[in-house]
Amino acid sequence: MTVFPCKPALLIALALIAGTAPARAQSNVAAGEKLAFDRGKGNCLTCHVIKGGDLPGTIGPELKDIKAKYPDRDELFAIIFDETKRNPQTMMPPFGRNRILTEQEINAIVDFLQTL
Ligand code: HEC
Repeated sequence: MTVFPCKPALLIALALIAGTAPARAQSNVAAGEKLAFDRGKGNCLTCHVIKGGDLPGTIGPELKDIKAKYPDRDELFAIIFDETKRNPQTMMPPFGRNRILTEQEINAIVDFLQTL
């Protein structure tokens, strides 16, 4: 019987390549959700209704259809980093400027928001 020794290895390699990218994106979304819901971190539920979150407040608008409303992720990042730039009167804390969240954490939250 003729065996092609490289074939299974190639299949495994292809499966790994196909599997890793979405898996990484998925874990960023999960991390973002956790940070958004964490009362000691994003604490977004205090002011926003977010799908899947318990006991939300209604000081801010419900966060839904976010990707349609803000297709540009930089704009979304800027809102979370420092909403006072858009609206000096806002109730929303400047999470990035006040170092409540790191840029990496804000990026994960942006990934999560874009799934809403
Ligand atoms: C203390 C209340 C408060 C908290 C906490 C808060 N927000 Fe907000 N947020 C607001 C208010 C109020 C607005 C309305 C716009 C404004 O005030 O400029 C807003 C607007 C937004 C918008 C724009 C929504 C739209 O439909 O245009 C996004 C996105 C957003 N917040 C995300 C977040 C995220 C993510 C968190 C958690 C990291 C968070 N907010 C935490 C009060 C809050």
